Amino acid sequence: MLDLFDFIREIPDYPKPGILFRDITPMLANPDALAQAANAMAEPFLGKKIDIVAAAEARGFIFAAPIAMALGAGFVPIRKPGKLPFDLHSFAYELEYGTDELQIHVDGVKPGQRVLLVDDLLATGGTIEACCRLLEKCDAQIVGCSFLIHLAQLGGEDRLNPYTCHSVLTYD
Ligand code: PRP
Ligand code: ADE
Repeated sequence: MLDLFDFIREIPDYPKPGILFRDITPMLANPDALAQAANAMAEPFLGKKIDIVAAAEARGFIFAAPIAMALGAGFVPIRKPGKLPFDLHSFAYELEYGTDELQIHVDGVKPGQRVLLVDDLLATGGTIEACCRLLEKCDAQIVGCSFLIHLAQLGGEDRLNPYTCHSVLTYD
């Protein structure tokens, strides 16, 4: 087993002064670390009958496809404005370093389908909360959320209540 913390690079003051950016690209470039990370994100949800893995672009997509395949599920993209071609649900939200909006196709998830949300990182929780609101608009059943990294001091987990939250690497 690798220590995945060894593969996360810390960049001070990126993309803004005061932000310590956790750069996952060294981990993505290592095949064993990448496989271990995706497996660890999927593991608590094996056997939970997940229909769909949903994720927001761009870094969420990287993990969503291998996790969907590990769970025998499909993948539904949640994207920034101007990227999805069909009828949409939209939700605007705040980031640790800015604001943004996310969208999902109205028929991306069918009512009652069991969905696992994944992302590389949980910071303020704004992104994943927006994803939850979009899936609720689709009448999805959110089984849980899985992250590679949790920045615990930013309080994002509170915004996910009542949903189950799993993370592989926690920074206190
Ligand atoms: C990053 C990261 C998460 C989000 C976490 O995405 O990939 O999705 O921020 O922050 P939050 O918990 O405060 O919402 P970003 O919006 O930077 O986009 P990217 O994936 O395209 O780099
Ligand atoms: N997304 C939001 N906050 C982040 C951080 N500190 N490092 C990497 N990605 C992030």
